Amino acid sequence: MKVNLKRLLANEGTIDLIHSLADNKDFAILDAKGKPLYVSNNLSPEIISGMVIKANQTEIGRVCSNSGKAADTIARFIAYLAKLEYEKKALASETLEKYKEISLMAGLNEKLASVLHPLDVANTLIRELEKTLWADHIQIVIYNYDKERYENLAIMNKHPQPFQEGEQLAVKWLSLNMVGEIINDLAGDERFSDYFPQVSSLMTAPLIVNNSVIGGVFIFSRQFHSYTSMDLKLLNALVSQTATALEAARLYELLKDTFIRTVFTLVETLEKRDPYTGGHTKRVMEYSVKIAQTLNFSKDETEEIMLAAVLHDIGKIGICDKVLLKNTKLTDEEFTIIKNHTIYGEEILSNINSLRHLIPGVKDHHERFDGTGYPNGKKAEEIHFHARVIAVADAFDAMTSDRPYRKKMALETAIEELKLNAGRQFDPEIVEAFCQMLADSNLNGVNGQFPPCRTSTHHSPPQYGC
Ligand SMILES: [Fe+2]
Repeated sequence: MKVNLKRLLANEGTIDLIHSLADNKDFAILDAKGKPLYVSNNLSPEIISGMVIKANQTEIGRVCSNSGKAADTIARFIAYLAKLEYEKKALASETLEKYKEISLMAGLNEKLASVLHPLDVANTLIRELEKTLWADHIQIVIYNYDKERYENLAIMNKHPQPFQEGEQLAVKWLSLNMVGEIINDLAGDERFSDYFPQVSSLMTAPLIVNNSVIGGVFIFSRQFHSYTSMDLKLLNALVSQTATALEAARLYELLKDTFIRTVFTLVETLEKRDPYTGGHTKRVMEYSVKIAQTLNFSKDETEEIMLAAVLHDIGKIGICDKVLLKNTKLTDEEFTIIKNHTIYGEEILSNINSLRHLIPGVKDHHERFDGTGYPNGKKAEEIHFHARVIAVADAFDAMTSDRPYRKKMALETAIEELKLNAGRQFDPEIVEAFCQMLADSNLNGVNGQFPPCRTSTHHSPPQYGC
């Protein structure tokens, strides 16, 4: 930051003030290169004195006069003005930096407010860091409480390999010191030089929550880059803001996980009533999730489908053992009783606010695509999409599991039945996705043995599931 002497002298009243201080002595003011900026009218050609003008310990010019006292007074006065100007500029620069920092923080805060998953939080931070700081590789490392070690959470990777071992070491160091660091000459740093090959400069900041380091953020530069204290200040500010959001997202995930496990355990306990359906809920859940993933559903929607799949038969709690556990074919009257489990499922879930949104997926899972299902005879898109997914998963598991009154089908036969029922009992798009998923995965050890799915609209096989 420099003070411009010419501009300083051009300020209104400055020259008049200098004249009054000069006590009618002539003088000249020169810039640092000796170029005259102001010369009083009657300056004598014999200049006897030249005084240096300094601002922030740098020469910005010189005052010449045939009076040493006048030159000294003027030089000290201009140095004072220059000091004020320098402080004004420093304040303006600091204010600007602060403004940038605040608007960056406000922007990040706004973005973090709408993300709930730890990975999304980490990626939001990476995007902000990429815009703000020079980096050709950014890694966010976080402590995994289950595995008791630090793990990569998110990477902006322009390097072929992340630096796993180096980060373990560096985060341990961050944990001890709780402060970020700039290492502009990494090769010369004995602590880390062996662990970060091909990196010239590194900047780190700890993720701190409740006075504990839960991880660290690493900014790497392959080429030499001189990170500044302002860079570190910005990094620390952004990282510290993200740490809280990250921990909140982790707690939210933990809470959600606990909730899902609790619901799942409850349903598994209910399933114990019927020894023939052991593991059915888990398999329907797994098939449904895989269908959702094959169809590129969002993480949130996949989770909803998963929960609806876990709870799809919750209404069977209201069906008496005599009917539910009957090991011979059901009479029409008994089948009518069994059908009520979809309505009972709706009634049970309607009492729980946090599960109410799952009702359509549960209630509609026995509706048929052609409108001949129950409880409401909905057809095609009238049937909730989650229910159409669960219907395929439910029927496939029913067909490939032993029942008291029949043996399980071969996988190939079950797949063929799904295809033949596409457009009748099932949504063809979901059957297609399910077949594709089976062909692509190791599900039940059937990797790659199924041909590409082709749906059919003729043939009328029995309904699967109950
Ligand atoms: Fe059911």
